[in-house]
Amino acid sequence: MDIQLRSSRVVIIGTGAVGATTAYTLFLRERASEIVLIDANKEKALGEALDMNHGLPFTGGVKLWAGDYSDCAGADIIVIAAGASQRPGETRIDLLKRNASIFDTIIKNIVQYNTQGIILVATNPVDILSYVSLKQSGFPANRVIGSGTLLDSARFRYLIGQSKGINPRSIHAHIVGEHGDSELPLWSLANVAGIGLEISEEEKVDIFNNTKNAAYEIINAKGSTSYAIGLALDRIITSILLDEGSVLNVSTLLTDYNGVSDVYLGVPSIVDRSGVRQVLDLELSDQELQQFQSSANKLKAAIAELDL
Ligand code: 2OP
Repeated sequence: MDIQLRSSRVVIIGTGAVGATTAYTLFLRERASEIVLIDANKEKALGEALDMNHGLPFTGGVKLWAGDYSDCAGADIIVIAAGASQRPGETRIDLLKRNASIFDTIIKNIVQYNTQGIILVATNPVDILSYVSLKQSGFPANRVIGSGTLLDSARFRYLIGQSKGINPRSIHAHIVGEHGDSELPLWSLANVAGIGLEISEEEKVDIFNNTKNAAYEIINAKGSTSYAIGLALDRIITSILLDEGSVLNVSTLLTDYNGVSDVYLGVPSIVDRSGVRQVLDLELSDQELQQFQSSANKLKAAIAELDL
C-alpha cells in the first residue's frame, strides 16, 4: 500500500544532529503524513520545524510541526534521539548515567499519551537505553526497538563494497551484538549473491576495525554523526509503516538466543507493522558465539548498575 494513502504519524523526541537529520530524511522521502518534533529546548524544535517547512514548496505534502508530548497520542512510531552524545574520546557506554536519567522523564511522558505505538530508540548507549525503555514503558518487547547494529552493518557493507568494487546494496554482511566497542562481524555469513567473499585475514581486520571505529573517526572530524544514522532510522521506520517484513539488524530483547537472555543486542530481525516480528536464528562459529556472549555480558553488567 502506498504510504500516502493512509495517515501516519512519527514523533521525534530530541532535535539534535540525529533527530533533526532523521526528521529531514523522513520529510524529504515523504515517509509519514505527519512528523512532530519535540525537544526540551522548544526554540530548537521550532527552528528546525520552520527551516524544514520553508522547503515544502519544493517537496510534498508532509505536515511537520514542533509539538509537545500530547502529540504522541495516536503516533505510530516515537523515535527517541534525545540526550548527550559522545565527545571526542568518549565511548557510548560513557553516556549511560547521563542519558538513562533523562529517559525516566521521556518514557513517563510518552506513556501518558501513547501505549499502542512503537518506541524506536537511537540515543546511546542504544542497546541499554532500549532495555531501559522496555522496562519503564511496560510495552511488549516487539514494540520497543533500538537502531542496534543496522548502521554498523551499513558501514561494514560500504567498506567491503569499496574493497571489492561492488555496490554495498549487493553485499550481504552483518555486524551483531552491542552497537559499540564489543560488536562483532559475522564473516562466516558474508556473501555476494550467495557466494562467500574472497578476502584476506589482513583485509578482514582492517575492514572490521574501520567499521567499529567509524563513529570515533567522524566525531573527531566533525563533532557528531547524523546522515547515515538518519537513513538507518528511516529504513526501520519505512519497514514498520509499510509492513515490509525487511530483515534489519535492529536491537531487540533476546531470550534464550545463542545462550543470551534478558538483554538487548543487534541481531537480524524481521521488522513489520508489529515492530520486531521475529528474531532470526544465527548459526555462529565457536569464536563468534563466544564474542556474542561476551558482548551480552558487558551490557548486562552495565545494566546491573542502573536502578531499574
Ligand atoms: C554512530 O555510530 C555515534 O552511535 C553513533 O554513528
